[in-house]
Amino acid sequence: MTTKKKPKVYVTRKLPDAVETRMRELFDAELNIDDRPRTKEELIQAVRSIEVLVPTVTDRIDAEVIDEAGPQMKLIASFSNGTDHIDVEAAARRGITVTNTPNVLTEDTADMTMALILAVPRRLAEGARVLTDSPGEWAGWSPTWMLGRRIHGKRIGIVGMGRIGTAVARRAKAFGLSIHYHNRKRVNPATEDELEATYWDSLDQMLARVDIVSVNCPSTPATYHLISARRLALLQPTSYIVNTARGDVIDEMALIKILREGKIAGAGLDVFENEPAVNPKLVKLANEGKVVILPHMSSATLEGRIDMGDKVIINIRTFIDGHRPPNRVLPFR
Ligand code: DGY
Repeated sequence: MTTKKKPKVYVTRKLPDAVETRMRELFDAELNIDDRPRTKEELIQAVRSIEVLVPTVTDRIDAEVIDEAGPQMKLIASFSNGTDHIDVEAAARRGITVTNTPNVLTEDTADMTMALILAVPRRLAEGARVLTDSPGEWAGWSPTWMLGRRIHGKRIGIVGMGRIGTAVARRAKAFGLSIHYHNRKRVNPATEDELEATYWDSLDQMLARVDIVSVNCPSTPATYHLISARRLALLQPTSYIVNTARGDVIDEMALIKILREGKIAGAGLDVFENEPAVNPKLVKLANEGKVVILPHMSSATLEGRIDMGDKVIINIRTFIDGHRPPNRVLPFR
């Protein structure tokens, strides 16, 4: 009996222990125990000799990196749902398959989106700071103090009604929000009925009519600055915007400007245009209670990360066994 040689797999970031242990058993895995983000030079060096690259959202796997790959490298099995950090087109040109980890982050991301939807109008972060930043200075309850805005009975406009958008809609409905959405395609009638959702073919018209906007579409060339300065200007002064998708779907500078001018009521952001850098103007707005900002953590649960690892492993094993991996990502057209 011949034993099959284990594929050389290069993992760019530290993964949960259970995932790393399994990877060590199955693959000739080079792990990143100290979790130092790899430089472009290190990535280029790696792709010259490995068979499988396992990057994540903090790596930039652009054409320059992909073009340096040796002929043995045939798979990029990303530890991520989004694939905007990979030039999938360049990979396809080189005959390299790309996979991702869809489905397993849906509920966690929707939970955190809902948390931001609540946190901004109900001033959760501001309230929490009162007791920790100035202990002993709280004068007690007052009828007119710390007033936020009611969620129940308002309209939410979901931009991108895929898996995560739909999961957000289910939660929002339970909180008494009426569901409005804009999507490339209308969702199936059963889902629309379940959510009592109103479809808006025109994003502009929806934005002008909702109280809370939730951005849940992927970052693609078509969604870059989809929420542009012009569209932000359509929002009502009492409205809020929440983004747990990708920073570049919103024109961040334009968002900062309208927040500063008080032309919308607030924002909840888990993602930023130039991550991990966060615009200091947003930090200032957060300190003033106008926005709640989180460090890209909406999918961050241990269970979710282990599920992602399982998906990466299944994708690699299926591919190495000569089959089409379940989560293949095709170039965006
Ligand atoms: C992903 O995997 O794309 C997510 O952004 C991680 O939160």
